[in-house]
Amino acid sequence: MSFTRRNLIASAGATGLAGAIALTSQDTANSQQPVAAPTAANAQGSFTNKVVLITGATSGIGEATARAFAQQGAIVHFCGRRENLGKQVVASIAAQGGRVTYQKADVQNEAEVRALMNECVRRYGRLDIAFNNAGVINPRFVKLHEQPTQDYIETMNINALGVFLSMKYEIPQMLKQGSGVIINNASVSGHKGYTEIAPYNASKHAVISLTRVAALEYARNNIRVCSISPGGVDTAMLRYAFQQRKVAFAEAEKTLPIGRANTVAEMANTVLFLASDQGSAFHGSAIDVTCGLLS
Ligand SMILES: NC(=O)c1ccc[n+]([C@@H]2O[C@H](COP(=O)([O-])OP(=O)(O)OC[C@H]3O[C@@H](n4cnc5c(N)ncnc54)[C@H](OP(=O)(O)O)[C@@H]3O)[C@@H](O)[C@H]2O)c1
Repeated sequence: MSFTRRNLIASAGATGLAGAIALTSQDTANSQQPVAAPTAANAQGSFTNKVVLITGATSGIGEATARAFAQQGAIVHFCGRRENLGKQVVASIAAQGGRVTYQKADVQNEAEVRALMNECVRRYGRLDIAFNNAGVINPRFVKLHEQPTQDYIETMNINALGVFLSMKYEIPQMLKQGSGVIINNASVSGHKGYTEIAPYNASKHAVISLTRVAALEYARNNIRVCSISPGGVDTAMLRYAFQQRKVAFAEAEKTLPIGRANTVAEMANTVLFLASDQGSAFHGSAIDVTCGLLS
């Protein structure tokens, strides 16, 4: 297999599911299935019956967070563009007793984001927690003057416009309910400059900025908004970045402050904490989960 961004990311999704379980679209986003009762495995979880929407849970941090919420009894609705991985993630979480549905949606497409939100509320009646996680890194690691303009546009559209659109369609439902928690996935790149990733860097600064504005605008509406800033998390995206910088993963992670990359489970744990009542003091915050990269 060649070492492209696309196939690296594709190969990393739906962890641990060698044999894909094919569900039809009828089994996932388009069916009229009612909300199932919590199974014995997760009926006592700390998020039992909370409705959670996640953008980009076909792999990586989003996938791990979908699993973690489902394990704690939440009902998870998620998107991503790779339908095959979406179906695999659904099958795998469902096999553990989790309640989860997948809907194909591209976060840079306003109609698809609106449809994602509408479908979540149509199925489950509300939206308690949103994790706006979908993101890409710019494909070519080159200096700013060499960056194709189209790469800048696409990276900004997915990472920054995607978060804007997600919040734009999540917030009205939360206002209607009178409650909600939104967590946006930013990055260490939203706090400082990194060479050769100008489009990604700019997009992640935008995510932190959008988070701060939304936090102020809805502070009196019982809608809590914050962002997380991961540093190096072992996913296809990080592996692609190290490969672009021509450093072996094992060597590169040794240079991180704690001598290793973070795990997707560590990021999921943080998101669940922030989404819980214990996270009530985090509002407008850009939470440093870099394990020292910003210290
Ligand atoms: N890994 C790190 O070290 C690190 C560090 C800082 C921040 N982050 C952030 O963490 C988030 C998740 O990345 P990851 O590391 O877990 O990498 P990943 O495994 O590549 O996950 C990215 C997820 O975003 C989805 N996505 C990308 N473009 C999308 C689009 N246009 N519409 C809908 N979904 C889209 C992907 O699904 P499809 O491809 O199926 O659409 C996938 O599910 C990103 O926002 C990233 O910037 C990661």
